[in-house]
Amino acid sequence: MKVLPLSLLKTSLVGGVMGVAAFAASKTPVTFNKDVLPVLQKNCQECHRPGEIAPMSLLTYTDARPWAKAIKAAVASKKMPPWFADPKYGHFANDKRLSETDINTLVAWADNGAVEGDAKDRPAPVKFPEGWQIKPDVIVEMPKAFDLPAKGTINYKFILVKANFKEDMWVEAAEMRPGNAKVVHHGKVWVRPPGSHWMEKAVPGEAYEQETQRDVIGRNMGADGNDILGKFNPGLGAQEFTVEGAAKFVPKGSDLVFEMHYTAEGKPTSDISKLGFTLAKNPPKRRYFFATGPSAGNLVIAPGDGNAEAVSELTVGLDNVKLVYAQPHMHLRGKDMDIRAIYPNGETEVFMRSKWDFNWQQGFDFEKPIPLPKGTRLIVVSHFDNSPNNPNNPDTKAEVRWGYQNWEEMSNCFIGLTMDMKDDADKMFIRSGPSLLKPVGGVSGPTLMTLQAKK
Ligand code: HEC
Repeated sequence: MKVLPLSLLKTSLVGGVMGVAAFAASKTPVTFNKDVLPVLQKNCQECHRPGEIAPMSLLTYTDARPWAKAIKAAVASKKMPPWFADPKYGHFANDKRLSETDINTLVAWADNGAVEGDAKDRPAPVKFPEGWQIKPDVIVEMPKAFDLPAKGTINYKFILVKANFKEDMWVEAAEMRPGNAKVVHHGKVWVRPPGSHWMEKAVPGEAYEQETQRDVIGRNMGADGNDILGKFNPGLGAQEFTVEGAAKFVPKGSDLVFEMHYTAEGKPTSDISKLGFTLAKNPPKRRYFFATGPSAGNLVIAPGDGNAEAVSELTVGLDNVKLVYAQPHMHLRGKDMDIRAIYPNGETEVFMRSKWDFNWQQGFDFEKPIPLPKGTRLIVVSHFDNSPNNPNNPDTKAEVRWGYQNWEEMSNCFIGLTMDMKDDADKMFIRSGPSLLKPVGGVSGPTLMTLQAKK
């Protein structure tokens, strides 16, 4: 076919611009089988398939065709795939954003009749893993089932498991699997090393909650060398700790603590979740450690405040620490969070800034490990919307403080770090700056202004 210059086309085709689009489409028609399915396979089907978290499947043409217009809207507005990090800050290995080319492909498909195309262009279906995604060397289960009521709020549960590990272990990958995926909203499995006082009064296998059983649980979850080994969020998958030849350390004699967030499903049911992990075949070069990160336990959010700020800080106490992962955590009034460093030489760098969406709890793998020299101040700044403009706000008249319930708030950024093999994880951070302030009644919690005032 002869290609005409655009200027000629415009005048020769009836319908002007519309005609150009139709012509372009007929020249290289975008089809589902050739162009669209590969994009959906790579970027969408991990969630959009039966049994996963998205409301509809995008596995086949029949599945996807009715959604063509919605797909166009969702990708053009960057609502899908969900990705909350501000592109101005940081580079992430797990960046989920679509390329402009892929967005244009999906838009062109929807705009041009959403045709199926030739069956011989269709790529083979993706084989998604069923069951364990890793091949665990060790599997530990909750020793007895947790029984859920049919309805009502269930506070976070903490369950101590006597693991009786007979030797030191170095873990390369971990995977937490819910026993009953319908009721496990998210969960974590912690390593409690020997000597830790966390949950020392707990009866193994029993489920305890912070709200009413602090005397049993204690207050040293984020200390005493306790380390998060595996996590479950829908769509998260297994976690690997092998960045820079690192592995996670599980000392001989450690116990595990399952931290479970359950949601009732309308009928009584039960769950036995488990954790599997793989062991390093060779001695690791560095230790991977997971920390709760800077936490604004002293935050106070005034009633109605549409942009309340909370600032928290830790100072790096060891040489040779590197930041590899960041995962913001807030509740229903959370808006956004960033994590930044003030280096010993006074320079500041923002590593990650992200919108917050309670339903997603997204985590960010840094493309390159970020060295944090000893003395670096690691700072988390977050904002909350306690105004009537926030559709998730459970009570705009409440003065909100730190707490485990969704109607209370949190501001902390879970962080993954690598450290020297010889160092003590408990010495990695020193509490500093606004984190040390007492909660200030009524007005607001620590803000960037308090941080500047302390300089
Ligand atoms: C990490 C999981 C995940 C990925 C990846 C993902 N989705 Fe979704 N998608 C969801 C969930 C969950 C919903 C429903 C809740 C919502 O709308 O936020 C949804 C909703 C949608 C909707 C309905 C939007 C609306 O406004 O009602 C469309 C269309 C969509 N996704 C298309 C896509 C496309 C196209 C891709 C890939 C380019 C994609 N999604 C990738 C999880 C995902």
